[in-house]
Amino acid sequence: MVVLVLVGCVLSFAVLLHLFLWVHRPFGNFASAAHRAGRRARVLVVTAHPDDECMFFAPTVLETLRLGHQVFLLCLSTGNFEKKGFTRRRELFKSAAILGIPADNVTVVDNPDLPDDINIAWDPKLVAQKILEQVFETSANVVITFDHYGVSGHKNHSSLYHGVNDLVEKGQMPDNVLVYALESVSLMRKYTSFLDVLPSILSSASTLFLSGYPAVLKAQRAMCAHRSQLVWFRWLYIAFSRYMVINTLRPLGR
Ligand SMILES: *[C@@H]1O[C@H](CO)[C@@H](O)[C@H](O)[C@H]1NC(C)=O
Ligand SMILES: *[C@@H]1O[C@H](CO)[C@@H](O)[C@H](O)[C@H]1NC(C)=O
Ligand SMILES: [Zn+2]
Repeated sequence: MVVLVLVGCVLSFAVLLHLFLWVHRPFGNFASAAHRAGRRARVLVVTAHPDDECMFFAPTVLETLRLGHQVFLLCLSTGNFEKKGFTRRRELFKSAAILGIPADNVTVVDNPDLPDDINIAWDPKLVAQKILEQVFETSANVVITFDHYGVSGHKNHSSLYHGVNDLVEKGQMPDNVLVYALESVSLMRKYTSFLDVLPSILSSASTLFLSGYPAVLKAQRAMCAHRSQLVWFRWLYIAFSRYMVINTLRPLGR
């Protein structure tokens, strides 16, 4: 009995320690690359729709800003699927401001060839071109976007991955730019909120961003700026999604 309790204590301690270490060295190789270059990281987060930035990337954005790096947001559509593009674009700027990204650092692409429609795959070449333009525009040295599954399986999310992956594979991404994809987790893990911390730590992702309580609240507030999107099931998402608390990233290429 005593032995069991002891083992339990040691294990809990080890887990807490790991948590602490991960939270305080969350950048993996991209921070050290930025350090080597003698400057702060300039992180370009690429999303498909207004609300992706807070529904999926908030831990990345908030932790990156907290560590004093610069963040730029590129959203490749206005989310005009229900003809609410104008409203959603405005909501995006509000949400970004709450997260701490000023309007000057947010770019929304409104291109008829990149419609917000779950049945249309965006042309990876066009996506790649838009992303590359923005990399040059912002002098980004880190690019972060969705992985091939894109969290929810939405084609627009995967298109971003394919666009970026093309750039990396064809060697068109500038050499100093590190590219990361947001790891999609199984449905089982997706709605376990902070309980997914342990599986996330144990996963082989190179980078883990874990939001503290204030950051989670901030992400929730940013989500509330997307008023046109707050249908009932989004509240469930806000309450239970691990992406509101945890992001794990994997490097592309190199
Ligand atoms: C926004 O971009 C400007 C210009 O590059 C930069 O100086 C600033 O730090 C950025 N803001 C944030 C919050 O990253
Ligand atoms: C978004 O997805 C829809 C349908 O899946 C598609 O029609 C549209 O072209 C996509 N947009 C982009 C930019 O990939
Ligand atoms: Zn989306």
